[in-house]
Amino acid sequence: MSYKRTLITSALPYANGPVHIGHLAGVYIPADIYTRYLRLKGEKVIHVGGSDEHGVPVTIRARKEGITVQQVVDRYHNLIKDSFEKFGISFDIYSRTTSSIHHKFASDFFRHLYDNNKFIEQTTEQFYDEETNEFLTDRNIRGECPYCHSQGAYGDQCEKCGRTLSPDELINPYNAINGNSLTKKSTSHWYLPLDQYQEWLQKWILEEHKEWRPNVYGQCKSWLDGGLKPRAVTRDLDWGIPVPVEGAEGKVLYVWFDAPIGYISNTKELCDAQPEKYGKWETWWKDPDTRLIHFIGKDNIVFHCIVFPSMLKADGSYILPDNVPSNEFLNLEGDKISTSRNWAVWLNEYLEDFPGKQDVLRYVLTANAPETKDNDFTWSDFQARNNNELVAIYGNFINRALVLTNKYFNGQVPAQGTLTDYDKQTIEEFVNIKTQLEDLLNNFHFRDAQKEAMNLARIGNKYLAETEPWKLAKTDLQRTGTILNLSLQIAANLSIAFEPFLPFSSAKLRKMLLMDDVKWDRLGAIDILPQEHTLGTAELLFEKIEDAAIQAQLDRLARIKKENQLAAWQAPEIKKPTTIDEFDKMDIRVGTVLECQKVKKSDKLLQFKIDDGMGGRTILSGIAQSYPNPEELVGKQILFIANFPPRKMMGIESQGMILSAVNADNKLVVTTVSNKVQNGAQVG
Ligand code: 2FM
Ligand code: ZN
Repeated sequence: MSYKRTLITSALPYANGPVHIGHLAGVYIPADIYTRYLRLKGEKVIHVGGSDEHGVPVTIRARKEGITVQQVVDRYHNLIKDSFEKFGISFDIYSRTTSSIHHKFASDFFRHLYDNNKFIEQTTEQFYDEETNEFLTDRNIRGECPYCHSQGAYGDQCEKCGRTLSPDELINPYNAINGNSLTKKSTSHWYLPLDQYQEWLQKWILEEHKEWRPNVYGQCKSWLDGGLKPRAVTRDLDWGIPVPVEGAEGKVLYVWFDAPIGYISNTKELCDAQPEKYGKWETWWKDPDTRLIHFIGKDNIVFHCIVFPSMLKADGSYILPDNVPSNEFLNLEGDKISTSRNWAVWLNEYLEDFPGKQDVLRYVLTANAPETKDNDFTWSDFQARNNNELVAIYGNFINRALVLTNKYFNGQVPAQGTLTDYDKQTIEEFVNIKTQLEDLLNNFHFRDAQKEAMNLARIGNKYLAETEPWKLAKTDLQRTGTILNLSLQIAANLSIAFEPFLPFSSAKLRKMLLMDDVKWDRLGAIDILPQEHTLGTAELLFEKIEDAAIQAQLDRLARIKKENQLAAWQAPEIKKPTTIDEFDKMDIRVGTVLECQKVKKSDKLLQFKIDDGMGGRTILSGIAQSYPNPEELVGKQILFIANFPPRKMMGIESQGMILSAVNADNKLVVTTVSNKVQNGAQVG
């Protein structure tokens, strides 16, 4: 299909926290690679983004932090914008949904559909807090999960068993903010009758967009197979864009109604500010010669493939997305990334810990992009890809080519001279790189495309390793010149091939090569740098990442994991009822620890010598992992069961059992008494 321009959008992140590696890998890096690639090819393209500042998540954050919602969105909008800039995500505009342009645009969009009878109005019973006089959104209602019976499940999902819920299913629902119990009250809302778009969507997606990624196509198919129902596009909330209808006081547009309209209003903001450069916003949104591409994460598929297109179709004057390349999720060290559990690598923190290493993260996240399935980010893989690929292959090749040229040719590109068969064979290996990269990038296969670019560095590295110009220089300077010329041409190619993926390193490399611009069309050529062209100063393109830096990250995650374990801890259920007689059978006593040490050849057992007031005894206890320094227990008065029959373990007789509590982190903590008592005193 031919087109004149491409409009790229990236999902608007909620301004309720900083952005993390999952956001970057899932949406923003692929969108940026694609945008940079089209720009390099000289196509007309804009990349539109912004912060999603309405909805419940920002209001929850504000309550938690005791500040206003506006303060929350201001803080995170600026932080997110700054992170994107620093990571080189090259938006033409990054705006926000609290802007006045957006408010007016979204309000007018709603009103236009309203006036054309595109909505239906329905009255339903919703949960209501009589004390605060407010209707509650699903996320603000909690209660017992009807499936796994854990307490505190949300009105839209149980985080314990992962099931999707509706608030009506919760047992004993309550207001998540103040714990108040809830009543039901009727309220009316406007709905977009998605059922009326079912047939059209079926044809448009299932028949006309079979080329969409299987994960996207599959999710759409299952929504469509399940049958679409009308969806409410308004909410009872005091944060958002007021519903522009008389009598709708206290109601706002649903965040998922206004957010995608943000793509349009942000385009308008861009075009209105620089009409000579960008033209009219309508050209980007209404001219069929524009190709619209949405980059999103998999939890956004239904909104971008079904709901938003239905809104656009309802209006009737807009183009529809041509493709919606959605990624799956990125996990972190085997666990789901979670903002609320702080299980993430935050971009602002990464930049503090690894200053100047934006491209390393860009590289690793693309190499591991969750394009077809969920993938895992691990710090050891991050280190390995940096040290073994960026440093050892790409960086090493560039460094050798430049340093040798400086050494033998005064930093000037030597003559190419006569090419040998081996040279020709090497050229053959990358002559098609442009077509190969284009095939992959045009089809959104960013991971494979980056692999192809790295392959070029491999070719260069191998070429230098096999031709060994440093050995030839003394005897055959002409041949050395040919090898270095070809190596420098490969280096110039690398700066072009990597430009969409690693823009900072490509710029650095161009500076070293004193190459002023990148021309995509030159990819694959061996005459990019003319003979006698003077090179710039050689620097290291990448640096090794040491173990200590990785360990610091792993330690941070271990600390967070422990904090989360403690926060999520629930007291175990009470055991079956028992009687005082049963309890009386236990002879629990107090004793003082005289000695305590690890049992040799056992990683579990500690050997206690106890003053039990009756001449002393030895007790073995399986708590060694909780007490790496067992001597700290010496002198403590502890509780033990005195009337268990003696038992031999590891050749030592144990005469009783030390009582310990199991802590939330699964560590055992020996029980003690609060005041000193006689050794041998009974507990009961
Ligand atoms: O899932 C999210 O983070 C949403 N804020 C994405 C919105 S995308 C678009 F519709 F604006
Ligand atoms: Zn559950």
